[in-house]
Amino acid sequence: MTEATTPEPSWQGVNFLDPDQGAAFRNDPYPRLAHLREVDPVNLTPLGVWRISRYDDVLRLLREKGAGVRRTDGVQPGSENLPDFGPREFMLGKDPPDHTRLRKLVSKAFTPRAIARLRDRAQEIADIQVEAALERGSMDVIRDLALPVPSTLICEMMGVPTADRDRFTEWTAAATHLLASFAGPPEPESLQGAVELGAYFDDLIAERRKNPSDDILSELIQAEEEGDRLSEAELLSQSVGLLIAGFETTIGLIGNGIRALLLHPDQLERLRDDPGLIATAVDECLRFDGPISLTLRVAHEDLRFGERTVPKDSLIMALLAAANRDPKQFPDPDRFDVGREPNLHVAFGGGAHLCLGAHLARMEGAAAIGTLVRRSRKLELESDELEWGPSLFRVLAKLPIRVGA
Ligand code: HEM
Repeated sequence: MTEATTPEPSWQGVNFLDPDQGAAFRNDPYPRLAHLREVDPVNLTPLGVWRISRYDDVLRLLREKGAGVRRTDGVQPGSENLPDFGPREFMLGKDPPDHTRLRKLVSKAFTPRAIARLRDRAQEIADIQVEAALERGSMDVIRDLALPVPSTLICEMMGVPTADRDRFTEWTAAATHLLASFAGPPEPESLQGAVELGAYFDDLIAERRKNPSDDILSELIQAEEEGDRLSEAELLSQSVGLLIAGFETTIGLIGNGIRALLLHPDQLERLRDDPGLIATAVDECLRFDGPISLTLRVAHEDLRFGERTVPKDSLIMALLAAANRDPKQFPDPDRFDVGREPNLHVAFGGGAHLCLGAHLARMEGAAAIGTLVRRSRKLELESDELEWGPSLFRVLAKLPIRVGA
């Protein structure tokens, strides 16, 4: 490799994995991400992991045939830091052909038509939650709206008793940190979250084998029982993985989205005056402050990004949050614009692993955010302080607001 292709390792002031980065970075990482994208768009970190932050590079990597989520020897990065336990066979950590097979098995539950059938249910929950808040005059957006809509829907889709929701809210948030095990062994509580979820689903799967129903879990069990389409470990992992993917992230969309609207009263007013903008508004919430800031790939061959070559088997972080504010793709990228079109953001990733729940998340986001905005005249933040939740994602722990009809 030439001198020009081997940069001096540096964090360039951006390290998502460092708890000492401080509240200012967590609250608003975008100025520093913009700096990184400008000064070192193909950045080698002191950890040896590469990071890319330009929109074109990120999209290319996600669609790249010469990259995958496992190393070329088939090993998942970070698996050396994890015990050989149940929930590690989720599709997100698999390359073809396993990925293709697993995704196909699960995808029919997530088609636009399947999701359209759930719209009334999402609306019903949003209505109940918003009406109750209007009567009280206040709400914690996270507890009272952002959590109930996606968690009820994913539980009902999967066939998980909603009454057990409180038990696994904590486990799912803790378990998201296992996605960062490439950087070192996870905290015991993250492992514990996954172990508890695994044990919970073991029991539920045993029960559903005896009493199948009309839900995703029963369908997956049937695929497993029919023979070679799904192993037992894969069945468990898809169940745990879908539950985690299905609600922690969407809490972030609804919470961060409502916060962005409250910080931009002109855009809030615009959406209230023209509710037909809800679809573009939800996508703008995802672009502007989406719940997942980055994702990982492994180079399966030397990959060239601009002036630099990332060597085969390197770990590459695609900084979705930086790509979503790239001025080359999004004019005036720091402006929050509920009517922005086109808005081809990468908040749902891209390529083979493009979020399977994107239609569901958009529908839930539109129901929750749209209902709150339509039904209220007054919406005000109660505090400027931010408290982030325990998960790896950009999800607030609470967002207290005052509401009025
Ligand atoms: C706003 C909410 C959501 C966001 C921002 C989001 C984001 C993402 C992203 C960025 C990826 C790709 C990761 C990668 O390429 O490495 C992904 C994958 C995935 N998401 Fe979502 N997601 C959301 C909601 C959901 C929901 C509601 C579900 C439904 C259960 C879901 C299920 C999945 C699945 C199964 C994958 C893995 C797909 C695969 O590996 O082929 N997500 N999501």
